[in-house]
Amino acid sequence: MRETALRSSGIHLKTREEIEKIRAAGRVVHRVLRTVGEAIRPGVTTGELEDIASRIISESGGTSPFLGYAPNGHPPYPAYTCISVNDEIVHGIPGRRVLQEGDIVTIDCGVELDGYIGDSAWTFPVGRISPRAARLLKVTEEALYKGIAQARPGKRVADISRAIQHHAESHGYSVVRELTGHGVGRALHEEPQIPNFVSRDRGPILQCGMTFAIEPMVNAGRREIRYGDDRWTILTEDGSLSAHFEHTIAIVPSGALILTNGE
Ligand code: MF3
Ligand code: CO
Repeated sequence: MRETALRSSGIHLKTREEIEKIRAAGRVVHRVLRTVGEAIRPGVTTGELEDIASRIISESGGTSPFLGYAPNGHPPYPAYTCISVNDEIVHGIPGRRVLQEGDIVTIDCGVELDGYIGDSAWTFPVGRISPRAARLLKVTEEALYKGIAQARPGKRVADISRAIQHHAESHGYSVVRELTGHGVGRALHEEPQIPNFVSRDRGPILQCGMTFAIEPMVNAGRREIRYGDDRWTILTEDGSLSAHFEHTIAIVPSGALILTNGE
């Protein structure tokens, strides 16, 4: 099923100039996540949050690589953001849903600017949340940064995957297998895949100029997923909470440069 040799030969290495263009797109993504994050409160709808995101992206001169995205078997994605609440893992479609005190909500946003794409996601609390939910957010965010800490020249993709999986599972959580991080830059999804679990495939060796999104999706319960009726939303099969934190990074001589942290 996996075609490692073919895959690793399909990686597009970026120049310093290209990395700066991804960073420029990433700054817009960061502004979206920060501004939407500040608007999250009980009573707001996910559609209202989408409107904030689409306005910022349009005003920046950028476009959305999510809008109209149609991988095989899916209807075209209808929004600028994915907004996923509680047991929704990823790809929730914003709309009329009203956020409630105690919910957790993931905002996932991509921006294309001047031909280059940044991609990032963050899970936010809605009002006051339970200690159990807060712990899931903390551990998933930590898993992202533990993955990023492994991202440097000479390491392998599996070193990132292992760090993420180990951190999540050592807290009793599970990582989703069906979805992975991904190369990103000229296209939203490039080679290589960045799984959040280890397998026999250790993945390519990391080289300067690689740019990719690291994105742990961590379930409080079991790892199995199901699709929602809209054919986009992916939920935990057991109804447990799920969190998702994502940054786009570049491999540089000193390690990983985070391109979606607003710097
Ligand atoms: N950030 C997600 C990803 O990298 C969202 C893409 S799904 C889309 O896969 F359809 F919204 F584009
Ligand atoms: Co992504």
